[in-house]
Amino acid sequence: MQIFGVDIGGSGIKGAPVDLGKGDLAQERFKVLTPHPATPDGVADGVKQVVDHFGWTGPVGLTFPGVVTGGATVRTAANVDKSWIDTDARALFRERLGGLPVTVVNDADAAGVAEMHFGAGQGRRGTVILLTFGTGIGSAVFVDGTLVANTELGHLELDGHEAEKRASSKVKDDHDLSWEQWGHRVEKYLAHLEMLFSPELFILGGGVSRKAHKFLPLITGVRAPIVPAQLQNNAGIVGAAMRAAEGA
Ligand code: BGC
Repeated sequence: MQIFGVDIGGSGIKGAPVDLGKGDLAQERFKVLTPHPATPDGVADGVKQVVDHFGWTGPVGLTFPGVVTGGATVRTAANVDKSWIDTDARALFRERLGGLPVTVVNDADAAGVAEMHFGAGQGRRGTVILLTFGTGIGSAVFVDGTLVANTELGHLELDGHEAEKRASSKVKDDHDLSWEQWGHRVEKYLAHLEMLFSPELFILGGGVSRKAHKFLPLITGVRAPIVPAQLQNNAGIVGAAMRAAEGA
């Protein structure tokens, strides 16, 4: 079975039909640039371009970088235009896509669902925490394989600041932090999460997962194993389609 997945990010809106059996894209993905400011109207136009590129007429799952309740309503917008807050994104996209069935879910939750089924979290029981490091820090928490949606652990306080303002990849780039400096912040953050949740496993996603060898060896003060995510760029697209199939 195929469902169309769309990943709405700060720089691009990417999508493709997803083969749910394989957990992979059924065709090469298509991307348009995210408009700035990333208003609901502008993003909806981008989503339409991506879906129309494939002439798709079936169900569509989309990610959003904020809290999304009921597969529909955006509740927070930390790194996107504030006019998203309380927008019924499902109704907006559905209308723009000519009435196609639409499900909208948090971006990290989508990536986590894909990673648990097809990547580093396969078969893992107990509490598993996946974190995505990018412009912000996204989180997906699983208990015996079941997602606890919208956990927003990137906004926990760390050293008097929101964790994502101290330890995201954007902060590393913006402040030109070395791997040691940034790794130290990530270690403190993970130790804090471990104190709260005692997970069996941490999975770290986002672009930095490809460079895990540069900072994972520096993180020694955390008991739980820490592994990089395996599904790189397409986890959000695949997970959005999976959540739509689950009727999220
Ligand atoms: C948002 C989360 C999102 C994360 C990654 C955070 O600022 O609050 O909802 O998952 O960024 O995009």
